[in-house]
Amino acid sequence: MTTTVTPTTTYIGQAVSRVDGQAKVTGQATYAAEFDPGPRMTYGVVVGSTIANGRITSIDTAAAESAPGVVAVMTHANAPRLPYHPCRSFIDAQDGEPIHVLQDDRVLHHGQAIALVVAETFEEATYAATLVHASYAEEPAATSFEVAALRAVPPGPGNQQAGMPGDTQRGDPDIALRTAEVKVDATYEIAREDHNPIELFATTAAWDAGTLTLWIKTQWVSHTRAYIAATFGIRPEDVEVISPFVGGAFGSALSVWPHTVIAAMGARHVDRPVKVVLTRRQGFPLTGYRPYTAQRVALGADRSGNLVSIHHEGTAVTSAYERFAENLLGATRFLYRCPNVATRYRLAEMNVGTPTSMRAPGEISGLFALESALDELAEALDIDPVELRLRNDADRDLHRDLPFSSRNLRECLIAAAERFGWQGRDPRVGSMRDEQGRLIGYGCSSATYPVYNFPASARAVLHPDGSADVSSATSDMGPGTYTSMTQVAAETLGLPIEQVRFELGDASLPQAPPHGGSATMGGVGSAVYEACTKARRQALERAGETNGDVNLAQVMRRLGQSVEATADYRPSDESNQYSMHSYGAVFAEVRVDPDLGLVRVPRVVSAFGGGRIVNPKLAHSQAIGGIVMGIGMALLEHTAVDPRDGHVVNGSLADYLVPVNADIGELDPFFVQDDDPHVNPLGVKGIAEIAAIGVAPAITNAVYHATGVRVRTLPVTPEMLL
Ligand code: MOS
Repeated sequence: MTTTVTPTTTYIGQAVSRVDGQAKVTGQATYAAEFDPGPRMTYGVVVGSTIANGRITSIDTAAAESAPGVVAVMTHANAPRLPYHPCRSFIDAQDGEPIHVLQDDRVLHHGQAIALVVAETFEEATYAATLVHASYAEEPAATSFEVAALRAVPPGPGNQQAGMPGDTQRGDPDIALRTAEVKVDATYEIAREDHNPIELFATTAAWDAGTLTLWIKTQWVSHTRAYIAATFGIRPEDVEVISPFVGGAFGSALSVWPHTVIAAMGARHVDRPVKVVLTRRQGFPLTGYRPYTAQRVALGADRSGNLVSIHHEGTAVTSAYERFAENLLGATRFLYRCPNVATRYRLAEMNVGTPTSMRAPGEISGLFALESALDELAEALDIDPVELRLRNDADRDLHRDLPFSSRNLRECLIAAAERFGWQGRDPRVGSMRDEQGRLIGYGCSSATYPVYNFPASARAVLHPDGSADVSSATSDMGPGTYTSMTQVAAETLGLPIEQVRFELGDASLPQAPPHGGSATMGGVGSAVYEACTKARRQALERAGETNGDVNLAQVMRRLGQSVEATADYRPSDESNQYSMHSYGAVFAEVRVDPDLGLVRVPRVVSAFGGGRIVNPKLAHSQAIGGIVMGIGMALLEHTAVDPRDGHVVNGSLADYLVPVNADIGELDPFFVQDDDPHVNPLGVKGIAEIAAIGVAPAITNAVYHATGVRVRTLPVTPEMLL
């Protein structure tokens, strides 16, 4: 059993306000596009292809080159040739090969980077970029999902190895379905969703002899360093990656995208620093997105509601050059107690950019289908939807044949149902109305997300004045890493929190895993805990101090010299001995205008079991942010790709809709007690992704309850309800 820190705490578990809050609201926090490498700085603007598939036959750059302020126009004809040594991380697409930026004339998706215009000002570069004209030899492009799905492919060996199999089966789901007393069988579709964090994608690149410095928006400085070093054929230690603040990312900044490579290439080409900021519209084709998915779920049950068969088949979009797979069907394999389960995963290759992780990648989409199907099954069985889920609660992971480290789906369902007032629901469809005549619906969903335990390192330096510097090459894209790590460090060291600084976002700091997968507190937090434990012990030893409870600041003053300790957290074997997940239950109320088909969501109640909560204030923020994303998925977000040429039609925040304050009612997330002795030294699970999961099916299930219309396609739009 992993030892856990004592639960009587000074800082862990406290609602500490963000330690970087003041820097952020006063403009002192510096984001990627705000770094200024000096007066020789230039601005690079990316030119995108206007076809989805083919070759560039010529690029006319003459007009752009003679435009005011232009320093250079870089295309595949004159760009530096790069070795592009392979450097795939486990969060990248596992099969295929990323586009080698400006290395040849090949075009594989609309909006692909085909040139970089570098000028003295951003405005000059922007104007000159409009003067670049490419001619193409166009080839037929796969721009229709329906067509691409007909020749969809398995996820490939790399994805298989990463735990994204094409097919799984336990028991005999076919026979079980055929003989089931009650069954439902339906297809669910979810629109492509694109990342739209407030901070745009930006990289500033500067070479100094053979060393490159990148100021970049990234969730993973260590991998950015490794990838750029491999791409340029230089040593990792010659790449500085600086990313102290990230203005939202949600997975969009896990991988290294073309604009970062092109900024570094451009800076080498013109021998001056280059800053590249993608426009909002360019972010759509040039970074990843949540892929469009089509899923079939067939459920079979006996009359008393016990699941006897689950078939879950999903096809997701990927690009023509990489197979990006996500954990679309993972939750289906273990969430409920069902002896016969088949999953089948396929990828439809299209001439679009490669998808990527977007908050709760896979689970959020897969569980929309599964939890919608369960609602349909509850209806067919005439069993309360909460009761149906409770009845099929699992006490063991039947897919991996492992016990759960801890599991509180049941507690979440019961507690959230109670808080929501589920018992006040009249189960008859269309039976509840408000004073304005709008139909009221109540819907629910389960949620789950895996606990990922990634290795991480951290360093703690204790100073003679009683202060401490603690660091790790992690990131803070918004959840409050600076704050929560400072809490863990201050408590473990036994120092006042004001005396502890936490540093992140620099590749030269001790290595950290991607700031994603809801895994930062589990991995980096554990490393911080271990580094601080070690540093405190060393300080006490060096001072000849035998009282373990002594005031560390006093010891350090007496010692009069610094003490430094680095620790490498490695997940214990328990990761393979237990099935580890966070759980949640979501209850949503909708009001539907029967004349206009408009859906409003006046309230959402969510319960989560996410292990130990380090900071309830940050956790609450995480939860409401996740619920808002779930509402966006249910009702608004939809990237439209034009099948004629594969271009994103609505690449702006005017046309790509996300929830605004007026769309959000009362959000009431809370955490149930979840003491997990196995997950990691801190006893923490992820609480980021889980919050977004289950919101969309809770809403569509509520829409059904209100209207009798079963919406199986996201987002729900008014015409579907009229
Ligand atoms: Mo999150 S999709 O793991 O950044």
